Amino acid sequence: MDTVFKIFRYDPAIDAEPRYQPYTIVAQPEERILDCLNRIKWEQDGTLGYRMSCGHGVCGSDAMKINGRCALACQKLVKDYVGTEIVLEPLPHFPVLKDLVVDMDDFLEGIGAMRPYLLNTSGAPEHERLQSPTDHQKLDAVIRCILCACCTAACPVTGENPRYIGPAALVWSYRLLFDTRDGLFEDRLKQIDTDNGVWGCVNHFECTRVCPKEIPVTKSINLMKREVEKRLRSS
Ligand code: SF4
Ligand code: FES
Repeated sequence: MDTVFKIFRYDPAIDAEPRYQPYTIVAQPEERILDCLNRIKWEQDGTLGYRMSCGHGVCGSDAMKINGRCALACQKLVKDYVGTEIVLEPLPHFPVLKDLVVDMDDFLEGIGAMRPYLLNTSGAPEHERLQSPTDHQKLDAVIRCILCACCTAACPVTGENPRYIGPAALVWSYRLLFDTRDGLFEDRLKQIDTDNGVWGCVNHFECTRVCPKEIPVTKSINLMKREVEKRLRSS
């Protein structure tokens, strides 16, 4: 079936304005959006810019807006979209470097600010720090995060307030906060106890809807709010 891909095109170095360029291909219903993009680039227009790497929902690099919703192009099929026109746009609220390629620097700096690694001042143990299966289970969902940025891009608060640290950074905060091998619990809790931290979230649930790894993002943020109330306010 002929399918038209209307793709956002913009090279800030040479274009005055963005535009949408249509490309028509014969696409199979079972074909992935990423495969369609590859065919367009390889067969019709080598100047098209987008990111991809693993092709299997692992690296998070091909996140984009597909017919109005953030998703991974390698996880979505043509048949997931009604009609014969599919619109591809870059992740919203991120500066465009070229076409579907966005600047991830601020996003990754925000993750880095959460110190996404174990910190412990109690001195190194003789062997590794162990974690019980029950404790590990508490992190089971959030460790699936692949840093695709779909959640942060889809969040309406991110659009209104660029200082909000965003759902992805909060997922990474959660991941360390509730890791029993980490020793900075209170410090991490204080870090997110701000208007632009957990309290910036007003439960739109868009992050949860778009997360390709089905992480309960909003629920995790709410659990952190509860922890802030319990540990920092209840004395
Ligand atoms: Fe992507 Fe989900 Fe991680 Fe957000 S929480 S960056 S949507 S994998
Ligand atoms: Fe790696 Fe889609 S290309 S997640």
